[in-house]
Amino acid sequence: MTMSNDGLRSDEWYAGTDRNSYIHRAWMRRGVPGNAFEGRPQIAIANTASDLTPCNSHLTEIAQSVKNGIYEAGGIPLELPVVSMGETQVRPTAMLWRNMAAMATEEMLRANPIDGVVLLGGCDKTIPALLMAAASVDLPAVVVPGGPMLTGHFRGEALGCGTDVWRLSEEVRAGTLSNESFLQSEGATIRSAGHCNTMGTASTMALVAEALGTVIPGLAGTPAPDNRLKQAAHETGRLAVELVRKDRRPSTFLTKASFHNAIVALAAIGGSTNAVVHLLAIAGRLGIELSIDDFDRIGANVPLLVNLQPAGQYLMDDLYRAGGFLAVLREVKDLLDPSALTITGKPLVDYLDDAQIWDADVITPRDAPLLPSAGIAVLRGTLAPGGAIIKPAAASPHLLKHRGKAVVFDSIEDFRARIDDPELDVDANSVLVLRGCGPVGYPGMPEVANMPLPTKLLEQGVRDMVRICDGRMSGTAYGTVVLHVTPESAAGGPLSLVQTGDWISLDVRGKKLDLEVSAEELALRQPNAATVAGYAKPRRGWERLYVDHVMQADTGADLDFLVGSSGSVVSRESH
Ligand code: FES
Repeated sequence: MTMSNDGLRSDEWYAGTDRNSYIHRAWMRRGVPGNAFEGRPQIAIANTASDLTPCNSHLTEIAQSVKNGIYEAGGIPLELPVVSMGETQVRPTAMLWRNMAAMATEEMLRANPIDGVVLLGGCDKTIPALLMAAASVDLPAVVVPGGPMLTGHFRGEALGCGTDVWRLSEEVRAGTLSNESFLQSEGATIRSAGHCNTMGTASTMALVAEALGTVIPGLAGTPAPDNRLKQAAHETGRLAVELVRKDRRPSTFLTKASFHNAIVALAAIGGSTNAVVHLLAIAGRLGIELSIDDFDRIGANVPLLVNLQPAGQYLMDDLYRAGGFLAVLREVKDLLDPSALTITGKPLVDYLDDAQIWDADVITPRDAPLLPSAGIAVLRGTLAPGGAIIKPAAASPHLLKHRGKAVVFDSIEDFRARIDDPELDVDANSVLVLRGCGPVGYPGMPEVANMPLPTKLLEQGVRDMVRICDGRMSGTAYGTVVLHVTPESAAGGPLSLVQTGDWISLDVRGKKLDLEVSAEELALRQPNAATVAGYAKPRRGWERLYVDHVMQADTGADLDFLVGSSGSVVSRESH
């Protein structure tokens, strides 16, 4: 139901003189006149603020700016706390809860008298979950990304909150940094409110949401403490009311062209591999046909233009200072699909001409890119018939074509128990294989694919090895890591049959990942007993629902029954 044609959706609750509309109004008036709801769009602010999601805890303050904008434009703001998960806090892994957050948000938007929604997210899974929900309900929706934290400093040097932590902890293991110094850096890492300030998953998803068209152009990447974020949140509140009046729902402007632009942007910024599963899941909610091969096809020849960790040097407030995301997009304007619209009703490409690069060290111009081609490569072969991905920009060039003997670990616990065993038969040419970490096997597909290297090899100066896993990798991580191997081992993929000592060949340019074991021998092998034993099917609760219905990584790891749209119509009511 739209405002322009049929009145507001919320009129079903509030307009009328019967007992039910009396009840709906009476409970929601809270001191306002009875006619205060008439003709005024009810705008939910789906807020993932939580003290236990520190990256998003400032969103309560941002919500106030959104409310101001909604009131000003003639709407009624309604803050709706939704499921939130702090990437660094929740167990067993935040990805287990993405689909639950999406489902809960979808259902609460459907169940309530809501005409439109402003989505407040930040930490890794929160923006994807909110977009999945909004796509399924298909009410007018607009995102306010919470913004990155400011750069910390330690001993005179910039300190990022993700990549630098991995680097410092590896230095401790290598014996080149004392543990005392490492711990001293702890207080400097998180300098302010906001999400991780590398080009990790949170930064990536904020920018990709803008490339999709779901954010007011120019907003994403505004640092969390910057007053311009509040200003943009205020403007977004105003826009949300307009969206309802114009009936601009996700299905009216999100198209394959929008995802094309998101993939170009993902490559140009050197974004997180996690964007692959999130974009696939969002597209699935919209009924848009998107495959992992689209990421390779569209993104492979896009240059890497953003010099941010983990692929580069700088951090998110440097990107904002250097011209911001629109300046990056301007450099690749010819690669964008000009037909893709944004939430404002105008094409994304219309916002690029005024953008400018102010620091070419941070945003490199198209004719002098950080790398001539970035993107995410999709690998297939006997070890990954359904596909696997690698981020070449984060990998070591000398390992992009590699052949080595497998050293296999059946779970992350098995890995941690044995990786530093002095007797472990491993050298710099070995291929570390970690299985049991897919959507079903863990469950929840944790970020463990970037396995720490054996200490004895770190001490020899080795800093990268080929690693293969059916799990994910933190967006802040780096290395020659093949991830999202599909089918995962717990689903009976060839990964479950690999044995230590098998030869594995990786050819990123040739898009190949092969287990050099004959089909005849593989047919004789049983899935490794430890892999099977390590997978105990959850007995109850969300985890049980999740493993019974989660799909594989190549389709976005959504639940099979959540694909598609529920729409916003709920006709039954109990009183
Ligand atoms: Fe929340 Fe990194 S831990 S964005």
